Amino acid sequence: MHFDIHPNPAPLPEADRVEAFKALGFGTLFTDHMVVIRWTEGRGWHSAQITARAPFPLDPATSVLHYAQEIFEGMKAYRQPGNRIVLFRPDENAGRFNASARRMAMPELPEEVFLDAVQKLVAQDAVWVPEGEGSLYLRPFMFASEAFLGVRPAREYIFCVIASPVGPYFKGGEKAVTIWASQAYTRAATGGTGAAKCGGNYAASLIAQAEASAHGCDQVVFLDAAERRWVEELGGMNVFFVFKDGSVITPPLTGTILPGITRKSLMQLASDAGTAIEERPYAFDQWQADAASGHLVEAFACGTAAVVAGIGKVRHDGGEFLIGDGQTGPVTRRLREALVSLQRGQSNDPYGWVRTIG
Ligand code: PLP
Ligand code: COI
Repeated sequence: MHFDIHPNPAPLPEADRVEAFKALGFGTLFTDHMVVIRWTEGRGWHSAQITARAPFPLDPATSVLHYAQEIFEGMKAYRQPGNRIVLFRPDENAGRFNASARRMAMPELPEEVFLDAVQKLVAQDAVWVPEGEGSLYLRPFMFASEAFLGVRPAREYIFCVIASPVGPYFKGGEKAVTIWASQAYTRAATGGTGAAKCGGNYAASLIAQAEASAHGCDQVVFLDAAERRWVEELGGMNVFFVFKDGSVITPPLTGTILPGITRKSLMQLASDAGTAIEERPYAFDQWQADAASGHLVEAFACGTAAVVAGIGKVRHDGGEFLIGDGQTGPVTRRLREALVSLQRGQSNDPYGWVRTIG
């Protein structure tokens, strides 16, 4: 697909960018450009362009504002030694984006167009890829742009990619996080949208995340909707458990949790390092009992934004419990190191996960 390129006539001056890079947080700073591609029924994808990042003028009846037909992805570009800029498993994001599109009755975007769009934006905004620990977080998304109030799949969509240079997701950096187990709210039910990366899932999780914050926790962990018993995932991360014998488990993909690319990658890395790793349901009461008995020694959360974060403490309506000594454990640290060093070009990539831009 051809992309019209209209460079931003007034990019952020270099001095301002350098200043902003000194204290990178998550999701507050944005690059100079964006990708926009339109879809119209009967015509398909068209009018691909890279332009100055700017607001969308939206009719008040625009479908997404009423019925939330929207999906997104989250991925990162890294600056490796020798100034090589790479993406991590971008084909996985392209595939998941279309799985989300199917679930939300939206048109699929050919994977090569998704990949081209992301790579072109990174190339255009290459000066925005931080060095060192930072990375350029990429947010491809699609929404129903037709102005229509009837309830049916829209006939017009906009696909867009924006980019944001980021540092750590959690304010405490690499310190183990405290999580809130929500008993009042669930995230997704069987047959629902839990496995899709749609905006509505996050809207529904915000009250539980607010409840977590009110209890001094960094993130919320959800239990299943049917029995309120099985640990599913965090608001924006998958979860793993490490036992005393060195074995590791993570909840299975039963349709109610997001199939994380970090999750899939860590499973492979752990398994190739000789760790016994299994996808298995884990009950919240068992988690509590195993933490108390010392059978469970570590737990961690993982995702593109958060990378790999040790879980030190769990709070819930009935109290709280520590995991191990409440610090990030050695298995968690080793897995994080294996993943990060591969992404940053400090170790070999036998899997072909890292894709160079350009
Ligand atoms: N679970 C949820 C609900 C998420 O939002 C994310 C983040 O994208 C993940 C898990 C982790 O997925 P990934 O590792 O592909 O970023
Ligand atoms: C990501 O990790 O890409 C996500 O979408 C999670 C979100 C909490 C930022």
